Amino acid sequence: MDFDLTQTTPHQTYNLLIGLVVPRPIAWITTRNLAGQLNAAPFSAYNYVGTDPPLVAIGVGNRPGPGVIGKDTAQNIRQTREFVINLVTEELGPAMNLCAIDFPAEVDELTIAGLATEPSKVVGVPRIARSPASLECREVTTMEIGRSRVILGQVVSIHVRDEFVDPKGPYIRADQMHTIGRMNGLGNYVRTRDAFFQIPRLTQADWLRRQGGA
Ligand SMILES: Cc1cc2nc3c(=O)[nH]c(=O)nc-3n(C[C@H](O)[C@H](O)[C@H](O)COP(=O)(O)O)c2cc1C
Repeated sequence: MDFDLTQTTPHQTYNLLIGLVVPRPIAWITTRNLAGQLNAAPFSAYNYVGTDPPLVAIGVGNRPGPGVIGKDTAQNIRQTREFVINLVTEELGPAMNLCAIDFPAEVDELTIAGLATEPSKVVGVPRIARSPASLECREVTTMEIGRSRVILGQVVSIHVRDEFVDPKGPYIRADQMHTIGRMNGLGNYVRTRDAFFQIPRLTQADWLRRQGGA
């Protein structure tokens, strides 16, 4: 089946893209508004897009209803230019899901979900204490493109619970963290527990050796 995206509705396009760009990491983002009120919400239109400098990008849609008005997370990041990305594990899934409810701006989702925070090292926004790792970020820019917005952030500090760091690399013990990924909407997620397998990277010499041996 082919889809001409000039003929699909925004909702159909959304369904196609979230079903095809999978699995997606989840950025569980904490922010503050100018009055200091905390906010937390999950975003899976998310990835790192650079390491020098370390950059992340997040796609944030509009608040439900008329107008092109960004969700609280996007508004807070524009106002304070700071945010924290917290990782979501299997056991934190239900609490993360509570933070996706479309509460009014004055509601602190962290209180609703019963989540404590810890102060961050560099930014004024706290991290979620039960999350195994958090990325402290400063907004580089927010690009408004049509009715979409992409937030580009620079990671300025990283916190990882000690048990998940192999100091040799340092490497992250991602196989022990049990983070979850978002799939095609409809409440579908994937686990990473016991799901790791290896495809070792090849050099050209490795590849040539294999050709010769075949
Ligand atoms: C796992 C998950 C991923 C989500 N990803 C996005 C996303 O990438 N972009 C977006 O605009 N909304 C996304 N949402 C919806 C927002 O979390 C939801 O609209 C939330 O209420 C926004 O909160 P805020 O207004 O406090 O920022 C996602 C929801 C879930 C459950």
